[in-house]
Amino acid sequence: MPERSSAAPAFVPGPVLGIETSCDETAVGIVADGRVLAACFSTQIPLHQRFGGVVPEVASRNHLLSLLPTLEATLAQADLGLDDLAGVAVTHRPGLLGALLVGTQSAATLALRRNLPLVGVHHIEAHCWAAMLDADGASAFRRPTLPALALAVSGGHTSLYRMDGPGQMTLLGQTLDDAAGEALDKFGKHIGLPYPAGPVIDRLAGQGDPERYALPRGMRGRTDLAMSFSGLKTAGRMQADAILAEGGDAALDAARADLCASYQEAVVRQLVDTTLRALRQTGLREVILAGGVAANSRLRAELGRACAARGVGFWPVAPRLCTDNGAMVAGLGSSLLAAGVRHDPLQLDASPTARPEIALVRASAREGRA
Ligand code: KG4
Ligand code: ZN
Repeated sequence: MPERSSAAPAFVPGPVLGIETSCDETAVGIVADGRVLAACFSTQIPLHQRFGGVVPEVASRNHLLSLLPTLEATLAQADLGLDDLAGVAVTHRPGLLGALLVGTQSAATLALRRNLPLVGVHHIEAHCWAAMLDADGASAFRRPTLPALALAVSGGHTSLYRMDGPGQMTLLGQTLDDAAGEALDKFGKHIGLPYPAGPVIDRLAGQGDPERYALPRGMRGRTDLAMSFSGLKTAGRMQADAILAEGGDAALDAARADLCASYQEAVVRQLVDTTLRALRQTGLREVILAGGVAANSRLRAELGRACAARGVGFWPVAPRLCTDNGAMVAGLGSSLLAAGVRHDPLQLDASPTARPEIALVRASAREGRA
């Protein structure tokens, strides 16, 4: 593992390809020297929508169909060919195992065929590292300095990490049950919103009253950095059921925006409060906000306000890089390659689980083109 350092993150200067197939987006991105050159994806959301969630086997099969066209579209967007690449990065954990395998096998084959260095990346770390990426080639772009506190909020994870460098993330706390995105999606499904409900709740909440319904905003009396959203999920469902029982569909229709605003507020308050507790406990002065739920407008505004009030740096990932994408994989891969991390294409594993402590193995064998 590379040494701990607070220096600005290094990237390899050449274009690194990133492949992301851990869930329901087939995504490919290219990053060179910390700048996003291209990012394309083929979403499977409409395919899974009628099931109200992701069906793993359907996901794997569609990654197989979509990966090569998405790769070609990404190269075309960057105006590059395979010969121009300096490395290949791929999400190899955590995620749906069959879905991950499509990405890892494709990336390993590409690396072998083109004699390119290969690196497997941790999906959640890639989400967080996206804060280091210049998404639009902005001249005023700045990066957080490390160490930083990272709040990763996605459909499957809600965790706080200390980030010291690429491959150097330490888990500080996480949800004990549902992830924040999952809690939003399940509640949305219950009140008749399409999957994934997070962005719809975000939009509807803008027209609602966050104080209308009193819903649990976290676990009382906790001093550690654990979070929980299952009590909120139950309370939200019971509140919606009570409205429905009393006034029928018309009452639920009329209450939907207020319900969304109140539910979203409860999610945001717990996330902000736990992040502030983590700041107090660690003394860190930089906050990264990452993952699909980091696109939420209320969370960005509230955490931004709380950080500003404390003179703490706030680094939300660029909105277009919040949900699953290939550029975040390419970005972390580029920094890992710059730190000398490589994986053997013949031995790259895929794993459904997120290890609590992210530990990257410096692969020994195959030498790639550096
Ligand atoms: O990171 P991501 O794309 O996939 C996972 O790794 O899980 O996150 C997807 C999650 C979904 O739960 C989705 O509802 C949520 O991110 N999401 C949002 C917003 N955009 C996406 N949640 C709240 N507000 C949003 N604007
Ligand atoms: Zn994700």
